Amino acid sequence: MTLALDVGGTGIKGDALDPRGKPLAERVRVPTPYPLAPERLVAIFGELAARLPHFDRVAVGFPGVVRDGRILSAPHYVRAQGDDSPVDPELERRWLGFDLARATATALGRPTRVGNDADVQGLAVVTGKGLEVVLTLGTGLGSAVFQDGVLGPHLELAHHPLRKGLTYNQYVGEEALRKIGKKRWNRRVARMVEVVHALLFFDHLYLGGGNSSRVEADLGPNVSLVDNQAGILGGIRLWDQPMKSRTRAR
Ligand code: BGC
Repeated sequence: MTLALDVGGTGIKGDALDPRGKPLAERVRVPTPYPLAPERLVAIFGELAARLPHFDRVAVGFPGVVRDGRILSAPHYVRAQGDDSPVDPELERRWLGFDLARATATALGRPTRVGNDADVQGLAVVTGKGLEVVLTLGTGLGSAVFQDGVLGPHLELAHHPLRKGLTYNQYVGEEALRKIGKKRWNRRVARMVEVVHALLFFDHLYLGGGNSSRVEADLGPNVSLVDNQAGILGGIRLWDQPMKSRTRAR
C-alpha cells in the first residue's frame, strides 16, 4: 500500500493506494498554508496520513526540482505568502538542499520517495510509446518528458522564458488565467503547445493539472487532456523507477 502525496501551490492532497493504484479511501486535502517551512510540510504529511488507511511506503510529488530526495528549488514555498510575495532568504535557506525524502521517512516511519510533481503525474499517464510530454496547468506550469515510457531528465520549463519575456509560469500559470481570462489564456495554451512541439517534436502531449479542465482550444489529435487525479496515481509508478535509495526511515 502506498501513501501518495501531491504537494501543490494551493493544496496538499493525499490518498492511500493499493498495488494496482486503486484508491483505498476518499482523497484528503488541506489548503497549502503560507509561510510553509519544510518541517511544517512534513507535519502536514503526518496529519493527512493519520486520516488514511495503513500504508507501507510513501510517494511525494513536489512542485520544484528534486534530486535524490533533496529539494533543489521550491519556487512557491521560498516566498512567505506564496507566488506574489518576495523571496524570503530564511525560507530559502531552509528549503534548498532539504532532504524531504529522509525527513518524511523518519516522520512517517515508512520508506519514502520524492519526485517533481509533473514527473510523478506523468508516470501515471504516459503509454510508453515514443516521445511523450506531460504539461501540468496549475499554480505553475509543470513539465515532464518520456522516451518510450522512460522518464527523461527533469525539464524545468516553468522558469524558462517562453514569449515576450514571460516564463511558462507567467504565461499560462494560475495568475495569468485570473488576469487575462479564459479566452486569451486558451490562446496562450495553444501557442505554448506549438512552441513545445517545435522544441521536442513530441508524438503525444498530455495536459494535466487543476486548470486542464479550463482548456477549450482545439489542440489537434496529438494532444489530450488528463485528469488531475493522475497527480496521486503516479505515486505508485514512482516506486517502479530505478532510483538511488537513501530513503529508509532512521
Ligand atoms: C515549479 C515546477 C513544478 C510546477 C508545477 C513550477 O512553479 O517550478 O517544478 O513542477 O510549478 O507545480
